[in-house]
Amino acid sequence: MDEVEAVHALALRLAREAGAIQRARYETTFAIESKSRPIDLVTEVDRACEALLVETLRRERPHDDILAEEGGAHADAGAAWRWIIDPLDGTVNFAHGYPCFAVSIGVEHAGVRTVGVVYDPLRDECFEAVRGGGARCNGRPLRVSECAEVGRALLATGFAYDVRDSDRDNLVEFARAVKHAGGVRRDGSAAIDLCYVACGRYDGYWELKLHPWDVAAGILIVEEAGGRVTDLAGGPAPASGREIASSNGRIHDELLRVLGGG
Ligand code: IPD
Ligand code: CA
Ligand code: CA
Repeated sequence: MDEVEAVHALALRLAREAGAIQRARYETTFAIESKSRPIDLVTEVDRACEALLVETLRRERPHDDILAEEGGAHADAGAAWRWIIDPLDGTVNFAHGYPCFAVSIGVEHAGVRTVGVVYDPLRDECFEAVRGGGARCNGRPLRVSECAEVGRALLATGFAYDVRDSDRDNLVEFARAVKHAGGVRRDGSAAIDLCYVACGRYDGYWELKLHPWDVAAGILIVEEAGGRVTDLAGGPAPASGREIASSNGRIHDELLRVLGGG
């Protein structure tokens, strides 16, 4: 097995193992705390998933770098392989018993997005991509939608946890999209939103102020499904996640114009 295949197989296994924890603990009692703001939550289940992922990686791939959301690992020694992990994307949903959340694992090789896995444990949907190898869900090849105009598009977005205190709150862009699109959703998991663009459930998705772990897997999955991901000005998709516009490609330029008020 070559190394990309080994990393891919491990990412798939880890996503399913963490997803099994989420499925088992969904709608049970667990501790919930606030982080940066009262609405920015972390649960005991986020931490349990991260511990499983990071401990397994440290054991099985001790030389790789890891960036994981809950701070269990921020090793950055300049290794060739770097794992970027959101142990539970959609924490507010999980905390409320709203069935939309996932494990997201992106892996870079020499700074290039190489493997992406997003696992939704309730739907048992495993979205995944390897650079140059296409994207799949549960083994089935994925293709973005054919929608050719924003006026017919189903879009999705989200809002950062600083929405109450910041002027850059995405509400202007949201209002523009609502006025132009076929529909706009806010489902609460950036990783799933990106995968839904990849599989054609959504025609486009944008968001501001995301983080590397929200987008590391999803950007690759959209691109490998034939879609396009950029910043809101049409430049390369920032690995930081600071702003992301993704689509089936066909509506991309129009989507950027609509969001920009043009
Ligand atoms: C959040 C979700 C949400 C997005 C937020 C993210 P978390 O991640 O992806 O959809 O709107 O910006 O922070 O906190 O559930 O891992
Ligand atoms: Ca997240
Ligand atoms: Ca998270």
